[in-house]
Formats: sequence, structure tokens, C-alpha cells
Amino acid sequence: MSGPTPDSRMKPEAVPLPIIEPFRIKSVEPFRVTERAERDESLQRAGFNLFKLASADVMIDLLTDSGTGAMSSAQWAAVMLGDESYAGSPSFLRFERAVRETTGFEHVIPTHQGRAAEHLLFQTLVKPGHVVPNNTHFDTTRANIEAAGGIALDLPCAESTDTQSAFTFKGNIDLDRLATVLEDQRGNVPLVMMTVTNNAAGGQPVSLQNLTGVRALCLKEHVPFYLDACRFAENAFLVRESTESLSGSTARAVAESIFGLADGCTMSAKKDGLANIGGFLAMRDPILARELRQRLVVTEGFPTYGGMSGRDLDAVAQGLVEVLDEDYLRYRTVSIRYVVTRLVAAGVPVVRPAGGHAIFLDAARFLDHVPRSQYPGQALALELYLEGGVRTCEVGSVMLARTDAQTGQEEPALHELVRLTVPRRTYTQSHMDYVIAIIKRVWERRAGIRGVEIVDAPKVLRHFQATFRRLANHQDPQLKIPHPVGQDV
Ligand code: F0G
Repeated sequence: MSGPTPDSRMKPEAVPLPIIEPFRIKSVEPFRVTERAERDESLQRAGFNLFKLASADVMIDLLTDSGTGAMSSAQWAAVMLGDESYAGSPSFLRFERAVRETTGFEHVIPTHQGRAAEHLLFQTLVKPGHVVPNNTHFDTTRANIEAAGGIALDLPCAESTDTQSAFTFKGNIDLDRLATVLEDQRGNVPLVMMTVTNNAAGGQPVSLQNLTGVRALCLKEHVPFYLDACRFAENAFLVRESTESLSGSTARAVAESIFGLADGCTMSAKKDGLANIGGFLAMRDPILARELRQRLVVTEGFPTYGGMSGRDLDAVAQGLVEVLDEDYLRYRTVSIRYVVTRLVAAGVPVVRPAGGHAIFLDAARFLDHVPRSQYPGQALALELYLEGGVRTCEVGSVMLARTDAQTGQEEPALHELVRLTVPRRTYTQSHMDYVIAIIKRVWERRAGIRGVEIVDAPKVLRHFQATFRRLANHQDPQLKIPHPVGQDV
């Protein structure tokens, strides 16, 4: 929440209360408070790639919100009820009931995580040359469509390309472009996907109106409509907050309306399933479900456990109930908004408005003296770790640049972002205040920060494995200041 306004300062009773976590902490996982010199050495050992750090060397880990959340005592209790029978486990029945009650989809197919659900769905529906439109494909979604020979087409709304636009529903798809694609590619589109929230576009929500528009186009063209539902609860909450006509609805009711528009979904339970592993496919079509179950047995497991253990099925069943709790969703979204508001007030370039699961720094503006060919996002992420042991994730040209097959030239990503992804129920408000303080310190000394170059990288998904070197920026007078990390070249 933003700080007190001048008005409210005069009226003490109107001062907003601090954000509180709507839970008590029963079990703690200590982390080591490291020194800068030690972090400096860790970075060098990791080849300046944060994915290669040992997590024991990280203080606040904002690399991902996937599988990194804290389970509740009710979930741990549910784990003890897990039944590991190969076939017909009651854990599956509880899981199936929870998914049905949340999504309204009749057929429930458990998978070990989201990408396994994507793999099954696309291997079944997508044929070489098929086009699959989406607001923005997450990288595993894209990879699975391409692995099936299809073309993954991103159609984000125009507002999403401007990191400073305050438009509320920057997760939306461009409905006009979708209509054109469906017409031009008639017979060649096996399904339309919508990712809620739109992770790759800043964790921004998709409006109910936009999803209704997609539904109408899909009905008209007889194309199935699937959700990538990883963050459905956050999407439902943010939609409710920004849609006047929904102000009296619960997040659960909004989620039901969203699922009600679709024919099925893929899901990573590592996000809004509030679990450490797990996922599912769910749908209305019994014939497709039958085919998917046949494939499931070959690659994941028997249909009553898929890729999961009985205890994981029970943890997800309970997680799906807890994730729609209003107090939890309010704390989560308000806490992320709090960080964004503080950063904006300090002049730090950040993607606006606040999304559902992460804060995105605009590294191209933050380090506007570092050319995009020198990966400002990677450079900034390294500094945040060095300054305060905060691990973040570059979502810019290291991760998303495309290389021209003919010229070998690299085409930069649309944006150079650094994602601070907030695990669910894991960090407290004071951790968030610490993160804000670290970002501000790096912001103050930004002029001395140099870009990086890639030393070595694999061809596919290079951000996981690449190693980097810090560069000397000869235009930068600050360079004369000795820097503790890395070697100049
Ligand atoms: N779809 C979206 C929108 C995602 O964000 C992810 C994972 C997946 C699908 C795949 O799910 O990991 O269970 O196989 N996103 C994580 C992230 C990895 O850090 O954003 P998975």
C-alpha cells in the first residue's frame, strides 16, 4: 500500500495499516547472511550466471515463483494422507474433485508439472504447420508447440509493449489480430491458448471481457479454447479488483467465470496450486481426454497418478482451496503493489502496473548507458545479487533474443527486464523492504555498472547454461572506479 497521504497524516486514524501476512509461521528455513566479498566469489564461480549459483549462497531468492512457495499446515497434514496405490488411489479422487470444483472441467489428467501437460496436449492436437495463437506463450509452451511442428504465435495487446502504460489489463490478447489469424488460417488452428496471468508480459491480468471476446471468436470458427491457467487465482483477484461490475464477487466466482469460457486448461500446480510439484490437464471433451490418457500412460504414469505421487496429489487438492482465500490473495497482490509503488516513488524504472506474481525492473532504462548488445538485464541482475544476495532473473535478450539463421545476427528481445518473482507465502514484508533498499542502492550507483558479454552458451535455452564476462565500457567515465567483481576485457 502506498504511504500516508498528506491528508491522512493529519488524521492519525486514517493512516493505512501495514500489510500483514495472514498466517503465522510454524516452521522456519534459515538462510545464511552473506558478505559482499563472498558473493563476489560466488558470482565468479558461477560464471556470472545466477542459475549456476548454489541456493545456499542466496539470501532472498526471487528467481521464480514456481514450486518455491510455502505449504500450509493443512497441506502438510494432507501429505500424510497420501495414498501411493498405483491404481484407484483416494488421493486422486480428492485431487480430481478439487480440480473439478475449481475449474468446472469434467476430465482431469494429472501430470508432474505444467510442461508435461503442454507436451501431451500439443503432441495430440498440433500437426506440422499448425498455428497456435496465445496472448504470449511462456517459453515451455512455445517449445512444446514447436516440438510438435507448430508455430507459436504471440498476439499481445498493443498496451503490453509499453512498460510505462498504466492500462490495467496488459495481459490481454489483441482481439482484432486474433480474428484475422483465425480467418486467414481457417482449418490450420487446432486451438487458441490464453495465459492467465500473462507471465511473459509482466504477470499482467487478462480481463473477463477479453476472454469473452476470445470465446466468441473461437465459437464462430469452431476452434477449441484452452487456458494456460498457472496463475488463475491471481488473475481472478486482479480482474475483480479492476472490474466494477465484479466488485461483489468472490475470487472463486470470478475464477469459475473464467474457466467457464474455456474448453480446457493446462496447469502448473507449482504456481497457483500452492505446491512444490505437480500439474494437470483438464477439459470438457471426453474423446480428447481418452486419447490423452492413453499417451499419459506411456510418458507420465497411470491415469490416477500421472506424474505425481499420492502425497503430491493431496497437497495440490488442498492448495487449490487455499489459493482462492481472499485474505491470502489480498496480501499477495498488495505486497507486490507495495514494492512497485515504492520503486516508482524512488524514480526506479519498473513495469507498470504491478502484476500478480512478480516485479519487473526495466533494465534498458535503469542502465541506459549499457547498450542492448551488452545485456543490461543480466548486468543489473548480477548487481542485485552482489549488493544484497537477492537472486532475480533476466527476462531480456539473454533469454529471448532471436538469432537470424542466415546472418547469425542477434535480434534483441522486445524489452530488457529483470524479474523479481515472489514465491507464495515464503517471504515477509520486511524481506520486501530489504529488497527495495537493495534496488535503491544499485540505482544510486548505476552509472558505474558495466554490461556483460557471453563467453559460452548453448544454442537452446541459453540463459540456463551460459557463462558471462563483465565488460569495460569505454564511454563511461565511472569506469576508472575499480569494481570488485570479474575481470575487465
Ligand atoms: N506456463 C506458464 C505461464 C509458466 O509461467 C510456466 C512456468 C509454465 C507454463 C510451465 O510450468 O514449470 O510447471 O512446467 N513458469 C516458471 C517461471 C518456470 O519461472 O515462470 P512448469
